[in-house]
Order: sequence, then C-alpha cells, then structure tokens
Amino acid sequence: MKTAVQPHTGYWPYNDQTQMDRQIPRYPRSFTRVPAHPLTERPLTLTELTGPAGIENRLGVEALDLSHAAPEEPRALGQLILVSGRVMDEDGSPIAGAVIEIWQANSCGKYIHELDRFDAPLDPNFTGQGRLITDFEGRYQFLSVKPGAYPVIESGWWWRPPHIHFSIFGPSWMNRYVTQIFFPGEPLNQIDVLLNGVKDEEARQTLIFEAPPPEMGDVQRIPFHRDFVLRGKRATPELP
Ligand SMILES: [Fe+2]
Repeated sequence: MKTAVQPHTGYWPYNDQTQMDRQIPRYPRSFTRVPAHPLTERPLTLTELTGPAGIENRLGVEALDLSHAAPEEPRALGQLILVSGRVMDEDGSPIAGAVIEIWQANSCGKYIHELDRFDAPLDPNFTGQGRLITDFEGRYQFLSVKPGAYPVIESGWWWRPPHIHFSIFGPSWMNRYVTQIFFPGEPLNQIDVLLNGVKDEEARQTLIFEAPPPEMGDVQRIPFHRDFVLRGKRATPELP
C-alpha cells in the first residue's frame, strides 16, 4: 500500500510516477481499491514489527514445483519455466526468510477460483498456487508453466497479458508486499491498464521478467528472472 513517508521508519521516499496510478480511468475497481480519504498513521507495536519469528521452521523450506499438482502426478500442460530472483531491501541487502506466496493462471489463462468466468479449461495437474521462503541471500526459485492470457470479461475488451502474482512478507506480517510480474515481448503488455498504470518507464520494466539465456544442455525449462526491491526510491511497483 502506498503511504506517506513515515518518519519513524526513516526510509527513502519514492517518486509517485514509479508506482501504479491510484485511479485508472478504464479500470473501475481502481476507484474502490484505494482509500478515498487521507491515511491515518497508526504506530506499530514491537510485536507487529518483529513477528512471527521462526516462520521457516513452521512452514518448512522446500523446493517449490508448481508444474505438478502433486509430486507423483503428471506434469501440467504448458511451457515449463524456472523462475528465480532475489528479494532485497532498499539498500540492496537481502531479505532472508521472507515468505513468498505465488498464484497464477494455467497455460490456458484459467484460475482455480469460483469467480473466474473465463470459459478456458482447468488443468487437473495444475493448481497455480504455492509458497516458498527466501534463503540467507534473499534468493527464491520455483518451477512452473507459463501462464496464459485471460480476458477481463466485464470490460468487454481488456485481455490481461501472461503474469504471475507475488505476495512477499518482510520481517513481519505487517510488511506485506503484493505485485504482478509480466513476461517480456508479450503484445498484450502494451494495453494492460495495470502494468501501464506505472508511468515511469524504468520502474515499469522492473515488473517484467528478465529472460537470461537458457543454460547449455538444459532443454527442459526456460529461465526467467526477477529481483524485488521492497521499499525506498527503487522499490519495485506494487500492483493489486
Ligand atoms: Fe492475474
């Protein structure tokens, strides 16, 4: 959430142009998803700022593979991708032990969600949701399949380009960061009102995966890379 600079946290202010517009003309929900009145600052207590501790022990740090619904089940349909990156604070220091939650559509652009009205098929071998924890250098990695595009049906015109949703918790549950990351070279990226709600070109590019060349000898999966900066003037923009 965008807030005014909070003196007690003392982090660098960002330029509003590097974050998504609060109200987007052709996206009615943007008018209901942001506060209509100035925010009220409520100082956080020590518990809220530091807990919960030892989350990696409670959740377990296991390799995440979304390309199967379960380890022994068949592989999901679609192009296999290996997504990796780092989670950093404003000064580039790693955010270790951050809980990352991921959700995405299947290769046809369909979510497992009762409100998804797109008539594309579900894939019984794909759930599109998972959770992992960054390592001591703030790194994460998971296998998946490339999501498909899907229409925003009520809009009558708008197709969402392929993207993956990320939610990242910082040192406590009160530090939650949410965004979407897009794939390079997708024509629909040009018309997506959320992606283009970020006016600053350089900031917008940080919402698109980098596509490093595949490793020699690896013909199984296509690598994509995205680092996240959670706050400060280089913060990766948040998208709902
Ligand atoms: Fe989505």
